[in-house]
Amino acid sequence: MTAKFNKALEGLVPYKAGPPMAEIRGRYGLDRVVELGANECADGPFPEVIEALTASLTGLNRYPSGGCEELRASLSDRLGVESGAMMFGNGSCDLLMLLGEAVLGPGVHMVYADPSFVVYETIALARQAEFDAVPLRDHRHDLDAMKRAVREDTRLLIVCEPNNPSGTCVGAAALRDLMETVPPETLVVFDEAYTEYVSRPDLEDTVPWLRDYENLVILRTFSKIYGLAGLRIGYGVAHPSVIDAIDKVRQPYNVSTLAQVAALEALRHPERVAERRDHVAGERVRIGELLTALGRPWVPSEANFMLVGVEGLPSAAAEVPNALLERGVLVRSGWGIGYPGWVRATVGTSEENDLFLGALSDLAGEEGPT
Ligand SMILES: Cc1ncc(COP(=O)(O)O)c(C=O)c1O
Repeated sequence: MTAKFNKALEGLVPYKAGPPMAEIRGRYGLDRVVELGANECADGPFPEVIEALTASLTGLNRYPSGGCEELRASLSDRLGVESGAMMFGNGSCDLLMLLGEAVLGPGVHMVYADPSFVVYETIALARQAEFDAVPLRDHRHDLDAMKRAVREDTRLLIVCEPNNPSGTCVGAAALRDLMETVPPETLVVFDEAYTEYVSRPDLEDTVPWLRDYENLVILRTFSKIYGLAGLRIGYGVAHPSVIDAIDKVRQPYNVSTLAQVAALEALRHPERVAERRDHVAGERVRIGELLTALGRPWVPSEANFMLVGVEGLPSAAAEVPNALLERGVLVRSGWGIGYPGWVRATVGTSEENDLFLGALSDLAGEEGPT
């Protein structure tokens, strides 16, 4: 092959999604695998969403609305922002990549935390930008160190709140302080993919902050609590000049009709979102208590996943993800996401969580939850 690829690709590795379920079942001879590896919602789309999707199938010979008009009107109304302050993407990942395209390049700089969402590094490398990945402190963003990392040429700073993979938040006061410090030329992205799961009382909706900070970009997704990961739709709220910039680099119809229909309907059911949040919050507490009883370290989380320490079990720690898989439970190995010695487990249904805890107890040679 003699094709010459972009030099930036030399530093990049493709995003590695987990193996297909059918392959795992075949490899380990399992009837069932509990999928706790990708921070998805255990429940599917709301029933009303399935109805709306079914009703829209016959119109699929047409392109979708290029500007997501109906969804834009509904969401901007709910959030209390002008419609020109909203952007939509094929997942919020699409918007992250587009932001990279719009503001990064050789000779400019980006700041994010480490470990955090693996895609941030991809954005910097893909655009050949310089970057500082600032280590977490006590599993949290070290905002002071991140502030110190900001340079004159820093065009993008990302805070993942709650952070993937640690599940931690820094809270509104610290974020406000960050916004007051970072120069207005630096876009600050709050990646709020898991914000609907946060149950701490000081959670503040950051959307009204856009009135104070023109350099703030808020990203959210329908992939998590709304149970629509398979459709790929996320959104961003930002100053209209940011939206204009993204409009220049996005592809014409970057959000499918089905994704728009599903998101629009999903927004009509906030009570179902609250139910899911309450379930996950309750399970986080229950799982934490059972892990403590098992003598396992874990990180208190505000999201729909938890980091669990797996050192000191009879099997070698690095083997634990595979040993759990042999027992029918797929979690994310911490070794691939900057957390060696830990696994990241999605909070699933109570039954799924019990199966995870049971498999972990089995590895520890103890009895699991009954
Ligand atoms: C922190 C964070 N941001 C963004 C995303 C991307 O979500 P989407 O499915 O909307 O592209 C994820 C997905 O796991 C995530 O963990």
